Amino acid sequence: MFCDIHNHILPAVDDGAQSLDDSLRMIDQALHAGITTLCATPHIRSYQSETITQEKHIAVGEMLRNELAKRDITLDLHVGCEMYYTSEFQDLAKNTVFHYQQRNGFVLVELPPAEAPAWFADICFSLMMNGTKILLAHPERNIALMRNPLVLAKYLRTGICTQVTAGSIVGKYGKEIQEFALRIVRSGAATVIACDAHDTFRRPFSDIAPCYDEIATTLGTIIADRLCSENPRAILEGGQPYQQIFDDEAEQALLKKARKKRFLFF
Ligand SMILES: [Fe+2]
Repeated sequence: MFCDIHNHILPAVDDGAQSLDDSLRMIDQALHAGITTLCATPHIRSYQSETITQEKHIAVGEMLRNELAKRDITLDLHVGCEMYYTSEFQDLAKNTVFHYQQRNGFVLVELPPAEAPAWFADICFSLMMNGTKILLAHPERNIALMRNPLVLAKYLRTGICTQVTAGSIVGKYGKEIQEFALRIVRSGAATVIACDAHDTFRRPFSDIAPCYDEIATTLGTIIADRLCSENPRAILEGGQPYQQIFDDEAEQALLKKARKKRFLFF
């Protein structure tokens, strides 16, 4: 069964669920889609990034678990966060309260949508040397990475792991993002698939089943299970996800579209 480690189901803490009813509707949809383990990842941004904000998120998660128990709803529910990359990132990422399960391991981070600085890899490398691992949220939706996938290749060679969004794979964000998302997955550069669910209609959990089917059809069920279930579970449990070595061949596969265009142009 699926394990989703990037979503916004906690009520009234960010731009995801706005009420307990919203959260319960999203959870109902997740369960129907075959998701049995969820880690809520509310946004953490520089101006609200104090530890106390994350402590509040953890308390809201506990409240939501109690509400589920009252209704006899079985769901393995956890709380992490999605950290926005700012100048404070390096300091914040060291604090394990922002890691999955609040214990030293992976932290989920998103870049600004049109920025992908090369030095992000250097900062992440220094964090990784001290035990903090990086899961980069939805690289396929980052315009700078799409325009220059060599930067993503640099991130991957540094050891940064990636989370690709189910909705991107099934074409919810347009053909260009879909093509890039599929290229990341096919090149072996994806570590995890997650829904980044914010609601039940625009960015829903129901994307996971067609996404799984797409990956299973093109790459096989072993890879689909790894991306949608085994790897996210490993990250959540503080283990090591399976990650294909990002070698020259993988880089060629990741860059393929850009090179084709270049040859045509010249
Ligand atoms: Fe998100």
